[in-house]
Amino acid sequence: MRIEPLTVNIGAQIHDVDLATADASTFIDIQSGLWQHQVLVFRGQSLTRDSQLALGRRFGELHVHPALSDRDEHPEELIIKNRGKSKTVTEVWHSDVSCDDRPPSISILRAVDVPELGGDTLWASQYAAFESLSEGLRNVLRPMNAVHINYQLTATHPVVRKHPETGREALYVNAGFTQYFENMTREESRPLLNYLVAAGSSSDISMRHRWQANDVVIWDNRCVMHFAVHDYGDAARDMRRVTVRGEVPLGSKG
Ligand code: SIN
Repeated sequence: MRIEPLTVNIGAQIHDVDLATADASTFIDIQSGLWQHQVLVFRGQSLTRDSQLALGRRFGELHVHPALSDRDEHPEELIIKNRGKSKTVTEVWHSDVSCDDRPPSISILRAVDVPELGGDTLWASQYAAFESLSEGLRNVLRPMNAVHINYQLTATHPVVRKHPETGREALYVNAGFTQYFENMTREESRPLLNYLVAAGSSSDISMRHRWQANDVVIWDNRCVMHFAVHDYGDAARDMRRVTVRGEVPLGSKG
Protein backbone atom coordinates (compact mmCIF):
# COMPACT_ATOMS: atom_id res chain seq x y z
CA MET A 1 0.00 0.00 0.00
CA ARG A 2 1.32 3.44 -0.95
CA ILE A 3 0.08 6.65 0.65
CA GLU A 4 0.25 9.83 -1.42
CA PRO A 5 -0.64 12.91 0.68
CA LEU A 6 -2.88 15.32 -1.24
CA THR A 7 -2.36 18.49 0.81
CA VAL A 8 -0.41 19.43 3.94
CA ASN A 9 -3.52 19.55 6.15
CA ILE A 10 -5.91 16.94 4.81
CA GLY A 11 -6.32 14.00 2.46
CA ALA A 12 -4.29 11.20 0.94
CA GLN A 13 -4.72 8.96 -2.07
CA ILE A 14 -4.11 5.28 -1.37
CA HIS A 15 -2.55 3.17 -4.10
CA ASP A 16 -2.26 -0.59 -4.50
CA VAL A 17 -5.14 -1.58 -2.24
CA ASP A 18 -8.27 -3.55 -3.13
CA LEU A 19 -10.78 -2.57 -0.45
CA ALA A 20 -12.89 -5.67 -1.10
CA THR A 21 -10.06 -8.07 -0.22
CA ALA A 22 -7.71 -6.05 2.05
CA ASP A 23 -6.16 -8.32 4.70
CA ALA A 24 -6.01 -7.51 8.41
CA SER A 25 -2.62 -5.81 8.35
CA THR A 26 -3.58 -3.69 5.32
CA PHE A 27 -6.77 -2.69 7.13
CA ILE A 28 -4.72 -1.53 10.12
CA ASP A 29 -2.57 0.55 7.76
CA ILE A 30 -5.74 2.04 6.23
CA GLN A 31 -7.02 2.98 9.69
CA SER A 32 -3.78 4.64 10.71
CA GLY A 33 -3.67 6.47 7.35
CA LEU A 34 -7.19 7.69 8.05
CA TRP A 35 -6.34 8.91 11.55
CA GLN A 36 -3.42 10.85 10.10
CA HIS A 37 -4.88 12.21 6.84
CA GLN A 38 -8.61 12.32 7.81
CA VAL A 39 -9.79 11.59 4.24
CA LEU A 40 -8.59 8.69 2.06
CA VAL A 41 -9.22 8.40 -1.69
CA PHE A 42 -9.21 4.99 -3.41
CA ARG A 43 -9.56 4.95 -7.21
CA GLY A 44 -10.84 2.09 -9.38
CA GLN A 45 -12.33 -0.12 -6.67
CA SER A 46 -14.70 -3.06 -7.19
CA LEU A 47 -16.91 -2.68 -4.13
CA THR A 48 -20.50 -3.92 -4.34
CA ARG A 49 -23.24 -3.08 -1.85
CA ASP A 50 -22.38 -6.14 0.23
CA SER A 51 -18.64 -5.62 0.23
CA GLN A 52 -19.07 -1.92 1.05
CA LEU A 53 -21.26 -2.88 4.04
CA ALA A 54 -18.67 -5.49 5.05
CA LEU A 55 -15.90 -2.87 4.82
CA GLY A 56 -17.93 -0.56 7.07
CA ARG A 57 -18.37 -3.34 9.64
CA ARG A 58 -14.60 -3.73 9.86
CA PHE A 59 -14.57 -0.24 11.42
CA GLY A 60 -17.46 -1.03 13.80
CA GLU A 61 -21.24 -1.29 14.12
CA LEU A 62 -23.00 0.44 11.22
CA HIS A 63 -25.10 3.58 11.66
CA VAL A 64 -28.58 3.77 10.15
CA HIS A 65 -29.50 7.16 8.72
CA PRO A 66 -32.56 8.62 10.53
CA ALA A 67 -34.39 8.93 7.19
CA LEU A 68 -34.15 5.13 6.79
CA SER A 69 -35.58 2.34 8.93
CA ASP A 70 -35.91 -1.42 9.22
CA ARG A 71 -38.68 -1.20 6.63
CA ASP A 72 -36.03 -0.41 4.03
CA GLU A 73 -34.40 -3.40 2.42
CA HIS A 74 -30.84 -2.18 3.15
CA PRO A 75 -31.21 0.46 5.88
CA GLU A 76 -27.44 0.70 6.40
CA GLU A 77 -26.85 1.89 2.84
CA LEU A 78 -27.80 5.50 2.04
CA ILE A 79 -28.41 6.08 -1.69
CA ILE A 80 -27.61 9.66 -2.68
CA LYS A 81 -28.94 10.46 -6.17
CA ASN A 82 -29.43 13.70 -8.07
CA ARG A 83 -32.97 14.82 -7.30
CA GLY A 84 -32.32 18.39 -8.46
CA LYS A 85 -30.43 21.23 -6.84
CA SER A 86 -33.43 22.48 -4.84
CA LYS A 87 -33.77 19.11 -3.09
CA THR A 88 -30.05 18.70 -2.38
CA VAL A 89 -29.25 18.61 1.34
CA THR A 90 -25.53 17.90 1.08
CA GLU A 91 -24.49 21.18 -0.59
CA VAL A 92 -23.66 22.68 2.76
CA TRP A 93 -20.64 22.28 5.01
CA HIS A 94 -21.54 19.50 7.42
CA SER A 95 -20.41 16.51 9.44
CA ASP A 96 -22.70 13.55 8.78
CA VAL A 97 -25.81 13.37 11.01
CA SER A 98 -24.25 15.38 13.83
CA CYS A 99 -27.79 15.71 15.27
CA ASP A 100 -27.46 12.11 16.51
CA ASP A 101 -26.36 11.48 20.13
CA ARG A 102 -23.75 9.14 18.68
CA PRO A 103 -23.03 10.63 15.26
CA PRO A 104 -21.30 8.55 12.58
CA SER A 105 -17.54 8.33 13.04
CA ILE A 106 -16.52 7.06 9.60
CA SER A 107 -18.28 7.57 6.24
CA ILE A 108 -17.53 5.44 3.19
CA LEU A 109 -18.80 6.91 -0.09
CA ARG A 110 -18.78 4.91 -3.33
CA ALA A 111 -19.35 6.48 -6.73
CA VAL A 112 -21.65 4.37 -8.91
CA ASP A 113 -22.50 6.94 -11.57
CA VAL A 114 -20.95 10.39 -11.88
CA PRO A 115 -21.68 13.36 -14.13
CA GLU A 116 -19.30 14.07 -16.98
CA LEU A 117 -18.75 17.54 -15.55
CA GLY A 118 -18.91 18.69 -11.95
CA GLY A 119 -20.22 16.92 -8.85
CA ASP A 120 -17.00 17.26 -6.84
CA THR A 121 -16.93 16.89 -3.07
CA LEU A 122 -14.84 19.04 -0.72
CA TRP A 123 -13.59 18.17 2.76
CA ALA A 124 -12.01 20.51 5.33
CA SER A 125 -9.81 19.60 8.29
CA GLN A 126 -11.36 20.63 11.58
CA TYR A 127 -8.04 20.01 13.34
CA ALA A 128 -6.46 22.66 11.11
CA ALA A 129 -9.52 24.89 11.56
CA PHE A 130 -9.20 24.79 15.34
CA GLU A 131 -5.45 25.34 15.18
CA SER A 132 -5.99 28.41 12.94
CA LEU A 133 -7.93 30.23 15.70
CA SER A 134 -6.31 32.53 18.25
CA GLU A 135 -5.42 31.10 21.63
CA GLY A 136 -8.02 33.41 23.17
CA LEU A 137 -10.86 32.09 21.01
CA ARG A 138 -9.70 28.47 21.44
CA ASN A 139 -9.94 28.95 25.21
CA VAL A 140 -13.43 30.47 24.91
CA LEU A 141 -14.64 27.56 22.76
CA ARG A 142 -13.20 24.65 24.77
CA PRO A 143 -15.88 24.59 27.52
CA MET A 144 -18.77 25.39 25.13
CA ASN A 145 -21.48 23.05 23.82
CA ALA A 146 -23.68 23.45 20.75
CA VAL A 147 -27.09 22.09 19.85
CA HIS A 148 -27.43 20.12 16.60
CA ILE A 149 -30.93 19.55 15.17
CA ASN A 150 -32.42 17.76 12.14
CA TYR A 151 -34.53 14.70 11.21
CA GLN A 152 -36.48 15.19 14.49
CA LEU A 153 -33.26 14.53 16.40
CA THR A 154 -31.59 16.96 18.80
CA ALA A 155 -28.15 16.44 20.30
CA THR A 156 -25.87 18.65 22.36
CA HIS A 157 -22.17 18.21 21.61
CA PRO A 158 -18.92 19.90 22.64
CA VAL A 159 -17.82 22.67 20.28
CA VAL A 160 -14.27 21.36 20.50
CA ARG A 161 -14.06 17.63 20.15
CA LYS A 162 -11.19 15.44 21.31
CA HIS A 163 -10.55 12.70 18.78
CA PRO A 164 -10.60 9.30 20.53
CA GLU A 165 -7.79 7.85 18.38
CA THR A 166 -5.41 10.78 17.96
CA GLY A 167 -6.19 12.86 21.07
CA ARG A 168 -6.18 15.96 18.81
CA GLU A 169 -8.72 18.77 19.22
CA ALA A 170 -11.11 19.46 16.34
CA LEU A 171 -13.74 22.11 15.84
CA TYR A 172 -17.15 20.39 15.87
CA VAL A 173 -19.84 22.76 14.59
CA ASN A 174 -21.26 22.80 11.06
CA ALA A 175 -23.73 24.63 8.84
CA GLY A 176 -25.94 21.62 8.21
CA PHE A 177 -26.98 20.75 11.75
CA THR A 178 -25.61 23.15 14.39
CA GLN A 179 -28.35 25.60 15.39
CA TYR A 180 -27.11 27.46 18.46
CA PHE A 181 -24.76 27.35 21.42
CA GLU A 182 -26.05 25.90 24.67
CA ASN A 183 -27.39 28.62 27.02
CA MET A 184 -27.43 31.19 24.20
CA THR A 185 -30.18 32.31 21.82
CA ARG A 186 -30.06 31.54 18.12
CA GLU A 187 -29.61 35.24 17.42
CA GLU A 188 -26.67 35.48 19.81
CA SER A 189 -25.15 32.29 18.43
CA ARG A 190 -25.39 33.07 14.72
CA PRO A 191 -22.40 35.45 14.27
CA LEU A 192 -19.95 33.13 16.06
CA LEU A 193 -21.36 30.04 14.33
CA ASN A 194 -21.00 31.73 10.94
CA TYR A 195 -17.45 32.73 11.82
CA LEU A 196 -16.50 29.21 12.87
CA VAL A 197 -18.04 27.55 9.80
CA ALA A 198 -16.22 30.06 7.57
CA ALA A 199 -12.93 29.40 9.40
CA GLY A 200 -13.68 25.67 9.21
CA SER A 201 -14.19 25.69 5.44
CA SER A 202 -11.29 27.90 4.41
CA SER A 203 -9.72 26.74 1.13
CA ASP A 204 -6.25 26.39 2.67
CA ILE A 205 -7.44 23.60 4.99
CA SER A 206 -9.58 21.85 2.34
CA MET A 207 -9.26 19.28 -0.41
CA ARG A 208 -11.48 18.68 -3.42
CA HIS A 209 -12.17 15.34 -5.11
CA ARG A 210 -13.14 14.98 -8.77
CA TRP A 211 -15.07 11.70 -8.87
CA GLN A 212 -14.78 8.82 -11.29
CA ALA A 213 -17.11 5.81 -11.18
CA ASN A 214 -15.81 3.16 -8.74
CA ASP A 215 -13.93 5.66 -6.61
CA VAL A 216 -14.32 5.20 -2.88
CA VAL A 217 -13.59 7.95 -0.36
CA ILE A 218 -13.43 7.25 3.36
CA TRP A 219 -13.50 10.13 5.84
CA ASP A 220 -13.57 10.72 9.57
CA ASN A 221 -16.55 12.89 10.57
CA ARG A 222 -14.97 13.54 13.97
CA CYS A 223 -12.37 15.83 12.42
CA VAL A 224 -13.63 16.91 8.97
CA MET A 225 -16.61 18.71 7.43
CA HIS A 226 -17.61 18.12 3.82
CA PHE A 227 -19.60 19.82 1.05
CA ALA A 228 -21.03 18.26 -2.14
CA VAL A 229 -21.04 20.79 -5.00
CA HIS A 230 -24.25 20.64 -7.07
CA ASP A 231 -23.03 22.08 -10.38
CA TYR A 232 -24.20 19.31 -12.75
CA GLY A 233 -27.81 20.25 -13.52
CA ASP A 234 -29.96 17.19 -14.22
CA ALA A 235 -27.08 14.83 -15.00
CA ALA A 236 -27.16 11.48 -13.22
CA ARG A 237 -25.08 11.20 -10.06
CA ASP A 238 -25.47 8.06 -7.95
CA MET A 239 -23.46 7.68 -4.75
CA ARG A 240 -23.75 5.03 -2.01
CA ARG A 241 -22.84 5.90 1.57
CA VAL A 242 -22.21 3.56 4.49
CA THR A 243 -21.50 5.09 7.90
CA VAL A 244 -20.12 3.64 11.10
CA ARG A 245 -21.79 4.42 14.42
CA GLY A 246 -19.58 6.72 16.44
CA GLU A 247 -19.15 7.29 20.16
CA VAL A 248 -20.66 10.08 22.26
CA PRO A 249 -18.38 13.02 21.35
CA LEU A 250 -15.85 13.88 24.04
CA GLY A 251 -14.91 17.45 24.86
CA SER A 252 -11.37 18.81 25.04
CA LYS A 253 -10.80 17.53 28.54
CA GLY A 254 -11.72 14.07 27.28
C1 SIN B 1 -22.53 13.38 1.80
O1 SIN B 1 -22.74 14.52 2.19
O2 SIN B 1 -22.31 12.47 2.58
C2 SIN B 1 -22.51 13.08 0.32
C3 SIN B 1 -21.40 13.74 -0.38
C4 SIN B 1 -21.49 13.61 -1.87
O3 SIN B 1 -22.55 13.23 -2.39
O4 SIN B 1 -20.52 13.89 -2.53
